[in-house]
Amino acid sequence: MDAITALGAKCLFVPIDVANVESVKQAIATTVVTFGRLDVAFNNAGIGGTYSGIHDMPEAVWDKLIAINLTGQFYCVKYQLQQFLKQGGGVIVNMSSLGGLKAEHGLVPYTVAKHGVLGLTKNIAVQYAAQNIRGNAICPYYVETPLLQAAPEATHKAWIEGTPTKRLCTPEEVAKAFIYLASSDSSYCNGTQLILDGGVMA
Ligand SMILES: NC(=O)c1ccc[n+]([C@@H]2O[C@H](COP(=O)([O-])OP(=O)(O)OC[C@H]3O[C@@H](n4cnc5c(N)ncnc54)[C@H](O)[C@@H]3O)[C@@H](O)[C@H]2O)c1
Repeated sequence: MDAITALGAKCLFVPIDVANVESVKQAIATTVVTFGRLDVAFNNAGIGGTYSGIHDMPEAVWDKLIAINLTGQFYCVKYQLQQFLKQGGGVIVNMSSLGGLKAEHGLVPYTVAKHGVLGLTKNIAVQYAAQNIRGNAICPYYVETPLLQAAPEATHKAWIEGTPTKRLCTPEEVAKAFIYLASSDSSYCNGTQLILDGGVMA
């Protein structure tokens, strides 16, 4: 927050639980009261998955991941759209993953949720383009963030080796993709996904 206010910009931090619809509604309302409107939303919150077979996936693990990574995105998008419709437009960027385009062995609810995020994003484009609202998604391969800290060193090394670029994505590269999709530079992008994978899908 200090870095943002030092640039002369107004900044607000609202703690939120995306799996709690009242929390989502309150955060959006507080933002609109503070700034008068909502121009751009980046629905980035998410948790990592654990590996297991579908046949022995504990229901509680499934429920928690879907609640945060998919239902949470729906809650955010729903109430952001209500504000966009009131004010005459807006832009949504949803965080998906390369796991939104392909299954990773054993990472079941995570890949299901991230595929769902792309479905939600496509529906934004189809239903609201005429109201000056755009929705797009970002699909990174592994990004060097705290989410990866639980992975064993050998796994981390294997991810890097499996990437033609021989390194993982940086948070800054995700931020640049977000800025592009949030800005008018991407004015004809709607309902699509920007893949950041160092060549993995190729
Ligand atoms: N790191 C990767 O390799 C990678 C790859 C592809 C996609 N992603 C996605 O990027 C997004 C950001 O992940 P990250 O890598 O920065 O991980 P991170 O753990 O560093 O950050 C995740 C953030 O989500 C927040 N969060 C978790 N549950 C929440 C909830 N219920 N309500 C509100 N906020 C909540 C956490 O507080 C944290 O700030 C996630 O959606 C993740 O699935 C990450």
